[in-house]
Amino acid sequence: MSITMLLNSFVPRQISILNNRCSNQIFPSCSLRNPTLVSSPEVAIHAQKLLQQFDPKIPLEKAITPPASWYTDPSFFELELDRIFYRGWQAVGSTEQIKNPHDFFTGRLGRVEFIVCRDENGKVHAFHNVCRHHASLLASGSGQKSCFVCPYHGWTYGLNGALLKATRIEGVQDFNENDFGLISIEVAIWGPFVLLNLNKEGFPKTEVDSHCVGREWLGSSADILSTNGIDSSLSYLCRREYTIECNWKVFCDNYLDGGYHVPYAHKGLASGLKLDSYSIIMFERVSIQSCESGLVKRKESYDRLGKNAIYAFVCPNFMINRYGPWMDTNLVLPLGHNKCRVVFDYYLEHSLKDDTDFIDRSLQDSEKVQIEDIVLCESVQKGLESPAYSVGRYAPTVEQAMHHFHCLLHENLAH
Ligand code: FES
Ligand SMILES: [Fe+2]
Repeated sequence: MSITMLLNSFVPRQISILNNRCSNQIFPSCSLRNPTLVSSPEVAIHAQKLLQQFDPKIPLEKAITPPASWYTDPSFFELELDRIFYRGWQAVGSTEQIKNPHDFFTGRLGRVEFIVCRDENGKVHAFHNVCRHHASLLASGSGQKSCFVCPYHGWTYGLNGALLKATRIEGVQDFNENDFGLISIEVAIWGPFVLLNLNKEGFPKTEVDSHCVGREWLGSSADILSTNGIDSSLSYLCRREYTIECNWKVFCDNYLDGGYHVPYAHKGLASGLKLDSYSIIMFERVSIQSCESGLVKRKESYDRLGKNAIYAFVCPNFMINRYGPWMDTNLVLPLGHNKCRVVFDYYLEHSLKDDTDFIDRSLQDSEKVQIEDIVLCESVQKGLESPAYSVGRYAPTVEQAMHHFHCLLHENLAH
């Protein structure tokens, strides 16, 4: 691109005024630069060609899996960010992270840097974590703050996003502090989860109805999930994070194989599950796999899995696992076409939260399974990148949820 073209591409951002109901102040948000991040028409056309290589209309028994390029091609990854992660509700964290007024956490989804915080009145907000002066990231990590002070030149924002102080701005003309609040993002709470909707930024901020959000996020599975113990009554225990050298979908596919890999790759876990009791139900954007535990027949008092395990997958990247007294969630964050980070949050029934022996053993067992899965996922990524592999097939009796996931991806990416 020439310098002239670059200069011509500079267009002042459009400002729109929002009524912020929390503060009763008028302060604006501004519409984002073109939210479509697929960098050029050529990239988009190339990604669309790759998309056409999977046909969701072919029944499972005859279906061919998506091609390896879906997992290895950077332009396909850009299309996914644009059409999957920047649309609709996305899980980004736990309410535990913003339990008290002044709590905040930051995160990154694709190229979107965000802050979620709870203000002094208890209201939850989410913003782009980008200073309106010269674009420095404003906050990092998590913790407590009474305001956000930019580490670059000290511009200061309230927990409701309003610009409170623009430092050394004397002499500036045509500048109204009310026009430079942080850009808001739609945020909602469902059960113990914090959700963001990136394509609703700049909309008037009204209280988001959690029932509507549940329906939008989970479809008709919302009732089943909330009545099967996925709620806020469990105690939050801890977080574990794993960076994995594989495309984010490799981790999801591994989760969605109906227990197919369990007897081969998780021998320890397989001995505690009745794998022939596996059942799989599909909803609009959710699939639920469940399996009975075999431990009831054993003498051991240590029973991490309980009688029944439920593994719910919320497209595109969130897993909710409910077993025995435990719930853990897995959030698969895409870091690039061949890298992801998986965030595990562990919750436990309140009565067991001081049982350190049980907790240590359970977390060790869980970690063993994660390490086994990481080895599998990184091996699959290497295989996908080798010239030997182009497409594969599904095992129809166990891999229905994986096929459902691929069909949903196709549908979302095509429009
Ligand atoms: S970039 Fe934030 S104050 Fe300058
Ligand atoms: Fe596994």
